[in-house]
Amino acid sequence: MSNDYKKKVIIALDFNNIADAKTLVDKLEGEAYIYKVGLELFLNCGNEILLFLKKSGYKIFLDLKFYDIPHTVYNAVKSAGLLGADIINVHASGGIEMMKAAKKGLSEAQETVGKKIELFAVTVLTSFSSEDIKEVFDFNDNSAHTHNGEPENTAESIALHLAGLAKKSGLDGVVCSPLESLGIKKMFGEDFKTITPGIRLKENDIKKQNSLEKANSLINRRDDQKRIMTPSEAFRNKADYIVVGRPITRAAEPLESLKNIYSEIC
Ligand code: C5P
Repeated sequence: MSNDYKKKVIIALDFNNIADAKTLVDKLEGEAYIYKVGLELFLNCGNEILLFLKKSGYKIFLDLKFYDIPHTVYNAVKSAGLLGADIINVHASGGIEMMKAAKKGLSEAQETVGKKIELFAVTVLTSFSSEDIKEVFDFNDNSAHTHNGEPENTAESIALHLAGLAKKSGLDGVVCSPLESLGIKKMFGEDFKTITPGIRLKENDIKKQNSLEKANSLINRRDDQKRIMTPSEAFRNKADYIVVGRPITRAAEPLESLKNIYSEIC
């Protein structure tokens, strides 16, 4: 079987220092292709980590989730592109004007760096449950916002709506839960890409693949993620990329954990 699926697994380098990030990259050498640098690592070591990853030949998802006025986001996306990111994201809830400004910044950066950079919009965070959705979006709990007593706003309906705005703005795709990936593909086409965090292996799969002692050290916790699926379920729902953080970064044996993820996919 080709190794192409390995190029669709983005590993989140969620650390507060470059030494820990480099240690993980070393441990996964030869098995990992794309790394995600998020707010924590970028705020602690800035461009240094991007330079290291680029020099080592990895693709970079710079996950800074921009959300600001269009002019500011235009400049932020352009700067992120010039730093060498391969994937950049903004919040879809910033609206069409903001996302179009992001796209303009991206095009200008692409011209300078001479490579394709992908731009994604975050829809609804995978850490949001239905209760969280209700708390944030059902701000007027009366008949105008309910249907047959049910809240109209669900994670899926909001994600679909925001994905529509991202599509209209000309973005490459969205970041969503694997639970919403298939619906988004059906509505906006196979070419409209999805990146899905909220990935966890099932306890039984880990137990099947490992000795009891090893399994216990690899059992994934849900942590703050609420709308989760396994890697294979996410790919069945047509995710173009999955993002995995703590199941690898917090594992006693990160390489074993990554290999378990790969075998669950195959
Ligand atoms: O550790 P875990 O696998 O839950 O990490 C998921 C990663 O994906 C984190 O780095 C988080 O910032 C990121 N992410 C997310 N939900 C989004 C976008 C990004 O969990 N909607």
